Amino acid sequence: MKKRNFAAPLSENTHLLRWIEKMVALCKPARIHWVDGSKAENDELCAQMVRGGTFIKLNQKLWPGCYYARSDANDVARVEDRTFICSLSKEAAGPTNNWVNPYEMRRKLRGLFAGCMSGRTMYVLPFSMGPVGGPMSQIGVQLTDSPYVVVNMRIMARIGTPVYAEIDKGEKRVVPCLHSVGAPLKAGAKDVPWPCNPDKYIVHFPESREIWSYGSGYGGNALLGKKCFALRIASNLARDEGWMAEHMLILGVEDPKGEKTYVAAAFPSACGKTNFAMLIPPDPLRKKGWKVWTVGDDIAWIKPDAEGRLRAINPETGFFGVAPGTSAKTNPNAMATLAKNTIFTNVALTPEGGVWWEGMTDQPPAECTDWQGRRWTPEIARQTGAKAAHPNARFTAPAAQCPTIDPAWENPDGVPISALIFGGRRATTMPLIYQAFNWSSGVYIGATMGSEMTAAAGGTLGKVRRDPMAMLPFCGYHMGDYLRHWIMMQKKLSVTPRIFHVNWFRKDAEGNFLWPGFRENMRVLKWIVDRTRGRTLAQETPIGWMPRYEDVEWSGMNFSQEKWKQIMAFDRGAWRAEVMGHEELFLDLHDRLPKEMIYERELLICRM
Ligand code: GTP
Ligand code: SPV
Ligand code: MN
Repeated sequence: MKKRNFAAPLSENTHLLRWIEKMVALCKPARIHWVDGSKAENDELCAQMVRGGTFIKLNQKLWPGCYYARSDANDVARVEDRTFICSLSKEAAGPTNNWVNPYEMRRKLRGLFAGCMSGRTMYVLPFSMGPVGGPMSQIGVQLTDSPYVVVNMRIMARIGTPVYAEIDKGEKRVVPCLHSVGAPLKAGAKDVPWPCNPDKYIVHFPESREIWSYGSGYGGNALLGKKCFALRIASNLARDEGWMAEHMLILGVEDPKGEKTYVAAAFPSACGKTNFAMLIPPDPLRKKGWKVWTVGDDIAWIKPDAEGRLRAINPETGFFGVAPGTSAKTNPNAMATLAKNTIFTNVALTPEGGVWWEGMTDQPPAECTDWQGRRWTPEIARQTGAKAAHPNARFTAPAAQCPTIDPAWENPDGVPISALIFGGRRATTMPLIYQAFNWSSGVYIGATMGSEMTAAAGGTLGKVRRDPMAMLPFCGYHMGDYLRHWIMMQKKLSVTPRIFHVNWFRKDAEGNFLWPGFRENMRVLKWIVDRTRGRTLAQETPIGWMPRYEDVEWSGMNFSQEKWKQIMAFDRGAWRAEVMGHEELFLDLHDRLPKEMIYERELLICRM
């Protein structure tokens, strides 16, 4: 086979060509590679990374098509304190985002990017978020010096040839995304397996819809279609155009009658979206005909259709999922999805050339190599507490391989959304499930959501922080304006989705989870669907509607009335503190907080 000339442009779009020319002049790469997205190209990039030490090819009998990567120990998660929303005014970015004057930031970036790709290849990576050409889809082009990013993006988004064709039609805005690991290679110098830079900048220019990312090769910092585009830039597009870009999974519940109800759920990072999206109901419910279908696990673009009903697409094509805790018991669908054609980053490597992480099996391997390349044994772990896998170790797996992938998951018009669910990781205060009284009380519940911080980003583990709609790190403009946009959205709707709040993570006095979670969450989801379809009653409480013990399907599960009381408890004292926590957020957002939030807070206090 004749080798393709990678430097030959695959697009004729003059805007694109001119931008690339400028970025080449700035970054000074040794060569250019126009990514076509083919399997041959992907195989070659993977082989090249194996030769360079970035990738280890896993045992192909055990893990066909799978590769293993270890990142630099200082590049393991999103860096929220290095993430910037550089709108023209500081007010537009709001108090919850880092802001730097865009002129100043551009100057800074021009300095950082000058010559940053020397000795490396610049990959031109066109991608579509959403089905190529779909009415809700958006396109971007990422210029990157990381082949690891290219092969990950090939799983996470639609890339390559069909996207160039779309760009060349010239009908849609292309979001320019520049990315560098920030590690120029001197002539003759040997590369490291995971080049990156201690100085990181994840920068968004909302008005000009641009993304500049420097210094990191990991996850949301580097796969720019995901958080940077599909949430931070898209939230700006959505506000301007009357739709919503949300940090939500999408799933469809099929009931015994064969009717499907789609719901979208916002949980903060590492709080259970992937697991919930791939839920397999407990056997007794499954046998009755309940089934969950997966549409997406992280991001939802939601738009009212001509009839005034919300419809949602998953703009991605893969799952960038948390590995630790994923097992055949907790999430068999994820295990099946990641069984082939998957990239594992920062998990442990077994002597057979397989992967392992904490929670994957009851019995740890006798020995393995940890995420930093050191020898790991259960004994060493007992003595030092060392983890084999980094807590934010991830798999990048094709969504199409998910056994429960919904037949409509690639419908360019999306699926109809009947309910929205908010949820966080809360050891106290928050009951297992309650339903908002209406849209504005539901927006209040989402706006005041709290969650204990996880390893998905730098920060104090376990500390409760307010995370409105799980969008605190991802909203590309003023959070107060974002809440107003939520309030306004209802006016476009003829059918208003029901809104719920869940908490799988409440603990007893000894610190044990009160709720078994995972597949048992189906019992809560069933009540949500039944409520949405008007099939079940509920009890009014100061915070919302709650199921009574007898409203929940308990077949096949032993959960006492006593425990139910504990997990559903509304504690006045705890809620006093909770409402003060709400107030703290509201003070921050004060000058742009929609009045509905103040009224809802007052009503909540009155009911309490
Ligand atoms: P991001 O990809 O960061 O957005 O995370 P996510 O929201 O998709 O979270 P994910 O489903 O990957 O779960 C994160 C962690 O929470 C994993 O360690 C899971 O094992 C754990 N988890 C998920 N669901 C449950 C549950 O119902 N109960 C308990 N106790 N843990 C859960
Ligand atoms: C998250 O942190 O919410 C993720 C992982 O989904 S990342 O893509 O790194 O943002
Ligand atoms: Mn996420």
